[in-house]
Amino acid sequence: MSWPLASDLLAPLAPWFDRVRRDLPWRAADLDVPHPDPYAVLVSELMLQQTQVATVVPYFHRWLERFPTARSLAEAEEDAVHKAWEGLGYYRRARFLKAAAGTIAAEGWPTDLEGLTGLPGLGPYTAAAVGAIAFQWATPALDGNAFRVLARLLLLEGDPKERAAELRTWLSPAMAVLGPSRLTQALMELGATACLPNPTCAQCPLSPSCETRLAGRTAEIPPVAKRAKPKAATLWLLAIEAQGHYLLQAPSAKGLLAGLWRWPTVEAAEAAPRPPSPSDSPILAWPGWTQVYTHRREAVSPLHLRLGERFPAAEGLQWVTGPDLPALPLGKRDQRLRDLLETPGQVPLEIPDVELILRPFRTTNT
Ligand code: ADE
Repeated sequence: MSWPLASDLLAPLAPWFDRVRRDLPWRAADLDVPHPDPYAVLVSELMLQQTQVATVVPYFHRWLERFPTARSLAEAEEDAVHKAWEGLGYYRRARFLKAAAGTIAAEGWPTDLEGLTGLPGLGPYTAAAVGAIAFQWATPALDGNAFRVLARLLLLEGDPKERAAELRTWLSPAMAVLGPSRLTQALMELGATACLPNPTCAQCPLSPSCETRLAGRTAEIPPVAKRAKPKAATLWLLAIEAQGHYLLQAPSAKGLLAGLWRWPTVEAAEAAPRPPSPSDSPILAWPGWTQVYTHRREAVSPLHLRLGERFPAAEGLQWVTGPDLPALPLGKRDQRLRDLLETPGQVPLEIPDVELILRPFRTTNT
């Protein structure tokens, strides 16, 4: 490893960050002392794991109003916690945060990186970020942004994640010199504002010493990982209403959508479309949309089915009263149908056979 001394190479980051830093609600005014509220740092880092800063800011404010301390979060109802997370995605993070808050409320904060890494939901990156930003530990936090900045600065060929251990060893002493919280956030800030995949090197305080810029190779370093093509699905999203109730799928305990209520769906291919319905039909439709997830793209067609009577719901489904609907935690796609139900202007479309649609959701006594 023949890299220049990190504290020399990265020194321009400190005054640059003090000049340009965005005023984010979880950022302490004084970056030279431990953060006054480590819990706020933990909340921000969990929220920021897969979500952009601009989206996180209003959630962060509301969260701290609703759950101002680790203890208040630990003691909250799971549904209330999911409700406060509603719209942020990756709901596992909310359950991890609640579980971590439980440990902190019972045992106090861990006193080293190993202890933080042992909290639910804290991988090596998040634990190191909380250590540096909340407690001023010299624990280098390497996320995608930091890897990109360092790969370019040092002209690392290949995937910089494979050099994580070397990079941490190299960075650690510089953290003590430049301030762990300041250096951690400055690296993130540089990756988020100038050293983007398509960088603006004129804004970068490290550009005079950036080996990748000097070699004219910013387009290739670091190499972009190829993503698997998302799976495509086409489905009807169903608001089945009867006697003031709606049929919903109750939350499962595990998996990506744990803790969330869901509208029933059927694969569109299973329900044969018919011509537009007359206006007195029990089925109404809205124009659909494409819901994009990391590994999946859904062509969603929302339907409102109004039935005369409730039927016995198949396992996993529950009839929920209309007034209870707004309080249920739903994912983004399903919130959209809940919002549509409050909007007049449903349109007749080519719609499927109601009996075919309902078959999987009924308990049959055979
Ligand atoms: N991304 C991850 N952690 C962050 C932080 N503390 N500030 C801004 N962006 C971030």
